[in-house]
Amino acid sequence: MTDNHNVDQTLAALGATTAEQVVSNFAQVRARFDAEAGANSSDVAQWNAFLVAWTGRKSGVLTKITDNWLKPATPELKRAVGQELNQLKAHIDGVVKEKQAAIEAAAEQAAAARDQIDLSLPGIEHTIGSRHLIRQTYDELLRIFGAIGFSVVEGPEIETPYYNFEALNIPEHHPARDNMDTFYIEGARNGDLLRTHTSPMQIRTMEKEKPPVRIVVPGKVYRRDNPDATHGYMFHQIEGLAVDTDITFCDFKGTVDYFARAFLGPKTKTRLRPSYFPFTEPSAEVDATCHVCGGSGCRVCKQTGWIELFGAGMVNPAVYGFVNYDPERLSGFAFGMGVDRLAMMKYGVTEVPLLFQNDVRFLRQF
Ligand code: PHE
Repeated sequence: MTDNHNVDQTLAALGATTAEQVVSNFAQVRARFDAEAGANSSDVAQWNAFLVAWTGRKSGVLTKITDNWLKPATPELKRAVGQELNQLKAHIDGVVKEKQAAIEAAAEQAAAARDQIDLSLPGIEHTIGSRHLIRQTYDELLRIFGAIGFSVVEGPEIETPYYNFEALNIPEHHPARDNMDTFYIEGARNGDLLRTHTSPMQIRTMEKEKPPVRIVVPGKVYRRDNPDATHGYMFHQIEGLAVDTDITFCDFKGTVDYFARAFLGPKTKTRLRPSYFPFTEPSAEVDATCHVCGGSGCRVCKQTGWIELFGAGMVNPAVYGFVNYDPERLSGFAFGMGVDRLAMMKYGVTEVPLLFQNDVRFLRQF
């Protein structure tokens, strides 16, 4: 706080009889002001009290100078005192504005420092997941077939025996029904069931669509296997079906070759082994040369040089009878792939349970 008493003494001690004395008196007052302004500008309360002491209307220094120096001044000195007083006021004004701005800026800075959020603390980590290996493999397989004009359709996981068996040329007492250990919804052998393969969608599609048909069907399928390293009770398939007026066995083999090269690499070769499915004739198992050793034999292909890819064949004309397609005019091929198997084979996964435990340390590798 400014020492008013001292200023008063200064004012009282300074009598002016000449213009030079006036100038020197004001210079002293001004020096005092500067010194006090410097000493009082760091604290807002102090600064405000200092302002009142100097510029307050009632008894501020400027008022006192007006009353004690200007008003009683002789006519010869009045002009000099007035001029000096105005200059002093202007000086004080300037300094006050400057200090005021500095004080406000400092106050703002202090408030900002107070409100600052401490970003140095460790935040909550949100780990980002990855696409599941099965999903990635689905996308890859569907893309490969999409590129040659197959469109994707999906169907129900709960099926009727008609679509899952009968219309696929697997009649009631056909042994193939026993091979596909089936989950029946109500336990009854001729009631609704969990589809054992995606092939029912061949029938559902041909019932609805006129030829040509070119579809792939991704989906879950269910079989009553005892779960072990290579079996679960649910797995994933992609069904394929192409039917048109002029599809030959060459188209079938060409599509198989295209697929094997796209999925396993451009050097891959394929072979067909005779097989049996009631809904294809002839039927085949498609093998590809091993993607690890290239066919010379290794641990992955169990020294055979070949990897089993999927089951397939030319659509059995008996199937066309169930969907009112003309077997004289139409022909086609079909295939059914195990997505889990293909994913495990390509990415070197040896245990089926790993695909379902969803341990992030496993999933992150792909
Ligand atoms: N549906 C057969 C299976 O699950 C695979 C298959 C589909 C075979 C289409 C031939 C044609 O084993």
